Amino acid sequence: MSRDREPADQYSVTAEFYDLLHLAGYREWARTWLATPARRARLGVLEVGAGTGAMTGVLAEESEVPVHAVEPSRAMRSVLMGRLATASDRVRSRVRVHPRPLAAAGLAGVADLAVCVNLAGGLPPDEREGRLWPAVARALVPGGLLVVDSPRPESPAAEEWALPSTRLGPDVYTGTVRCVPAGPPDERAGPHHWTFRYQVLGERGTIREESETFPTWPLGPEVLDQELRVAGFLPVGAVDGWEPEAPAMASEGAAASTWRPELWRRR
Ligand SMILES: C[S@@+](CC[C@H](N)C(=O)[O-])C[C@H]1O[C@@H](n2cnc3c(N)ncnc32)[C@H](O)[C@@H]1O
Repeated sequence: MSRDREPADQYSVTAEFYDLLHLAGYREWARTWLATPARRARLGVLEVGAGTGAMTGVLAEESEVPVHAVEPSRAMRSVLMGRLATASDRVRSRVRVHPRPLAAAGLAGVADLAVCVNLAGGLPPDEREGRLWPAVARALVPGGLLVVDSPRPESPAAEEWALPSTRLGPDVYTGTVRCVPAGPPDERAGPHHWTFRYQVLGERGTIREESETFPTWPLGPEVLDQELRVAGFLPVGAVDGWEPEAPAMASEGAAASTWRPELWRRR
């Protein structure tokens, strides 16, 4: 993809703040939910939407096989590349970065574990059905496992939440997330708009504020179930005795402990 044909980067603002605010919580989530399936992978691991690599590190540390980290956003990928540049030789020798959307990455039969977390609701239904899920199915061998985060509530309330807060030098990095649900008659179809407002607070007040808005489309349990079955997946409750259970999460508040993955098997 030549640079002048790249679409606008949806994460150009967020990439700078992502690790400061989310890395600890997301690594913990990945260690809780992804370490066991990663250790059991025998062919390869596909990570769809690797982002800054918060979970890529866990997948590569825990597994013994190639890890395909697919990340189309240049801004997010830059952070991922910085992380990989300082990773251990063991991790660096196995992670391959694919700098495009999954459907354009041309991956076929490369993995027996696919991870697709924090992504699907950000794509419109026709893109999920027509491109995302078929490309995940293509990249997996028959019998391969797909770990996908369980659907969030379909109709988010119009309210504001605080982002995590962390200190860097004398400054505090924090912010808020605000959701504006699609209004009638589109409220069931979306998109809803989530605005992340990042704040850098110094001793004398606000130093900087930046914001970025992301659309999401409703992806309730029935819709996800239908889309994945059509793409050739079947739900599995447990894999070789391992079953996702709600863990005690230390970070990211109570919501994280209810944010759990689902397991699907490619037919
Ligand atoms: C919210 S971020 C989550 C990143 C990472 N999974 C995590 O939880 O930290 C979603 C990522 O998915 C990427 N993405 C969006 N559409 C994609 C596609 N079709 N194929 C691969 N990655 C995609 C975005 O560029 C973004 O970095």
